[in-house]
Amino acid sequence: MAATEQRHRTAIVRGALSRPVRLAIDLGLVDVDATVFDYGCGYGEDLHELTKAGISAAGWDPHFRPDSPKKSADVVNLGYVINVIPDAAERHRVVLDAWRLSERALVVAARLDSERRSLSNGRPHGDGFMTAHGTFQKFFGQGELRGWLDAVLEVETIAVAPGIFVAFKAEEDANEFLLRTHRRRRLAVRVSRSDRIYDEHRTALDALIAFFGERGRLPAKTEQLELQRQLADAVGSVRRAWRVAVAVTPDVDWDAVAAERRQDLLVELALLKLNRRPTFTKLPETTRHDVRGLVGPYKQATADADELLYSAGNTALVSEAADQSPVGKRLPTSLYVHESALQDLPPVLRVYEGCARWLVGEVDGANLIKLATDKPKVSYLEYPDFDRLPHPVLRRTTFVRVGALDVDQRDYSDSDNPPVLHRKETFVGPDHPLKSKFERLTVQEERFGLLGGDTRTIGNLRGWQERLQEMGLTLHGHRVVRRRSGADSPTGSV
Ligand SMILES: C[S@@+](CC[C@H](N)C(=O)[O-])C[C@H]1O[C@@H](n2cnc3c(N)ncnc32)[C@H](O)[C@@H]1O
Repeated sequence: MAATEQRHRTAIVRGALSRPVRLAIDLGLVDVDATVFDYGCGYGEDLHELTKAGISAAGWDPHFRPDSPKKSADVVNLGYVINVIPDAAERHRVVLDAWRLSERALVVAARLDSERRSLSNGRPHGDGFMTAHGTFQKFFGQGELRGWLDAVLEVETIAVAPGIFVAFKAEEDANEFLLRTHRRRRLAVRVSRSDRIYDEHRTALDALIAFFGERGRLPAKTEQLELQRQLADAVGSVRRAWRVAVAVTPDVDWDAVAAERRQDLLVELALLKLNRRPTFTKLPETTRHDVRGLVGPYKQATADADELLYSAGNTALVSEAADQSPVGKRLPTSLYVHESALQDLPPVLRVYEGCARWLVGEVDGANLIKLATDKPKVSYLEYPDFDRLPHPVLRRTTFVRVGALDVDQRDYSDSDNPPVLHRKETFVGPDHPLKSKFERLTVQEERFGLLGGDTRTIGNLRGWQERLQEMGLTLHGHRVVRRRSGADSPTGSV
């Protein structure tokens, strides 16, 4: 059949790692100790790059490497293969064969519906399209791909990016991965009081402070044994050491830190339920200690986490939480927040955003998140150079309709009038290093009257450029300056 004969023509030369393999490395699934098998490896570029990086990799492809053996490996990559197979039964067999070879994890990538627009002249063929080159392409919905993988592999797969999923052989590994890849808060603690014991045992006490800052509790008996031994030698016990730590950090409200970490834990447990609520013993050891130390009985922790999860599905509660959010820009039906401030959102909103992330995974380049507060919809917006440009321009939006398990994208890269951002300080958290710089620009722009009048017109690039031009102004970095006639460009994105 022409369709199958031409399949290999879907293979492309990238000159770099493919996105799923890059992600597998970035997310810690693949490192120098892991073995990788690339199932349907095309020209073998991933193999080449992995080997160059010192990672043991092998691969097979029915067209490019038909004689290579199919081998088991810690991680198997099935990258953009299932979408080129027209026969549904064969797709099924291929995924199962790749799964059989995976000892730890299988990474599956496929093209998504939103990419169909890039296909010109495709004619419908089976459940996909036949291209002008005689190659077949099936475009999946994000939810459809997950549902299909879950059913075929009989495990809960994890979305790591649009069109890219990972399935783990062991449930414990999946839980560990989910918890590890959640963002963790960082707490900057300043030691502001001198103390003889602290000065003498600074390294161990700093490590204890960092541990508490991250987990909201002291190490359990079986954790951090080396640190516990050092602290016992230094001051007699961990509890004593903690009293010294508290004394030298009078500016930190450690009870508040513990309360925040308890909320973080409940958010994590709420989101874990999206995959399947693990039994206590299937949780990583550290999380088990967190539950015991911060909540108590696991039953209590799961009940509290469930409540959070249900609240995140309740539009009225989401809207109320958005009204009270300490970060983000509140509009009548949405809250916009910079990705660096996600951790500062109220727990209900973190779970709401986490539900969208569960569906879509990490959206490459997205730095602004729009949480709709009148319907279950989260959008990931990509504003390149957010920090550097005074008024970043929207490149791409990825919409996640949480209820419908549906993902779509809109690309503005070819638009001559894309949306532009103003008042950047409203999106970031209080700790963002450039917040005051952004604020100063806004104050200046307000003083010049640039942000007043009909704000709709300045929301897009052309209207903004016209406004600057009319007022004889331009921007130099984060500073408004008067235009010297004919000298400066009015783009506002210098
Ligand atoms: C779009 S390419 C992807 C290649 C590579 N994984 C990458 O990401 O660059 C699709 C590949 O799937 C291979 N392929 C087609 N049918 C296959 C099957 N039944 N089993 C394994 N690979 C297959 C093709 O030969 C082609 O090299």
